[in-house]
Amino acid sequence: MTTTAPITSPTQPASNSAAPASTTDPADTGPDPVTAAQRRTTEIEEQIRVAPGQFRILTGDRPTGPLHVGHYFGTLAGRVRLQRAGVPVFVLIADYQVLTDRDVADNLAGHVDGLIADYLAAGLDPAVSTIFAHSAVSALNQLMLPFLSLVSVAELGRNPTVKAEIAAAGQPAVSGLMLTYPVHQAADILFCRANLVPVGQDQLPHLELTRAIARRFNDRYAGGSAFFPVPDALLSAAPNLLGTDGRKMSKSRGNTINLSDSPDETARLLRRARTDAVREISYDPAGRPEVSSLLLLAALCQGRAPAEIAAEIGSRGAAELKRAAIESVNEFLRPHRARRAELIADRGYLRSVLRAGNAVAAEVADQTLGEVRALMGTTY
Ligand code: TRP
Repeated sequence: MTTTAPITSPTQPASNSAAPASTTDPADTGPDPVTAAQRRTTEIEEQIRVAPGQFRILTGDRPTGPLHVGHYFGTLAGRVRLQRAGVPVFVLIADYQVLTDRDVADNLAGHVDGLIADYLAAGLDPAVSTIFAHSAVSALNQLMLPFLSLVSVAELGRNPTVKAEIAAAGQPAVSGLMLTYPVHQAADILFCRANLVPVGQDQLPHLELTRAIARRFNDRYAGGSAFFPVPDALLSAAPNLLGTDGRKMSKSRGNTINLSDSPDETARLLRRARTDAVREISYDPAGRPEVSSLLLLAALCQGRAPAEIAAEIGSRGAAELKRAAIESVNEFLRPHRARRAELIADRGYLRSVLRAGNAVAAEVADQTLGEVRALMGTTY
């Protein structure tokens, strides 16, 4: 076994390479980064049960639109669980990051209010967790400058997630922010000395860069001490929920079941969902992805196993499957939607939550930046 200290990661290679997560080098003796992160996640889950106070979590979202059921089961529910387990949680609204793949951030304030309403409706408690927007925390942003000095242009250009986003955005030119936002993300994480970052696989290259920045800063300016923690990924087992068109569920594809949708909208969308021509319903994610995704959605909402629901539906076919999915989602989301509607009607309250979170984050960031400047010799 490994160490009990949560801030080091002996199962991950200590290299600074930004190799893609899928790289399998025959000369490599260690596990690939995804497998390593999965193993480490299992260890950390155990440590959280024993000593939640050792950890500090930073997690966040881009305010680009409404959250959907994939977000709920993939990240939101996990954040609430960690908060309830006693881990301090910082929830970042990454408003500057919206500008990576588009020139203009539309309806930013509306999306920010929607995020906060969903956070609170899902059970994040602003008295315990800190909800803030990074644009409002000046000292966090200043950290990006020394951090930029610790990375190479070549390293930024190799980031596989950034490359995929550049390809998907299809913009005529790649902005400096697109190339450097993973460094900003390091500031998001390290300003509050988070040592645990719940992420999906696509974020692992960013976390690897954050880890490199933390180590390099510690080596260059802090005499090799653990001034910044080297944070671990808490790999979220993102459920394989597909969009209603059978492709990856994604805001930009318009195939999502949103938490803010009405029950009627949910019913309409799910009735249109793609299935297949086999009448007997079975849970087979590889062979029958669309049918299995609907089963999984119903199962997550009911807290049961997808195969059990499949057996119940049996030969009653896709129409019955959709009926079950619609009822499960609407039933499960009913209390969330009721709370959300109340919250979104009180923008003053939502903004007061954000302002309070911004103030807490600013205090923490001022403290960290002060120490960073002292270490760098820029206090005059
Ligand atoms: N990149 C994340 C996303 O697209 C959002 C984000 C910004 C983030 N800063 C972060 C996530 C820091 C974790 C840690 O969803």
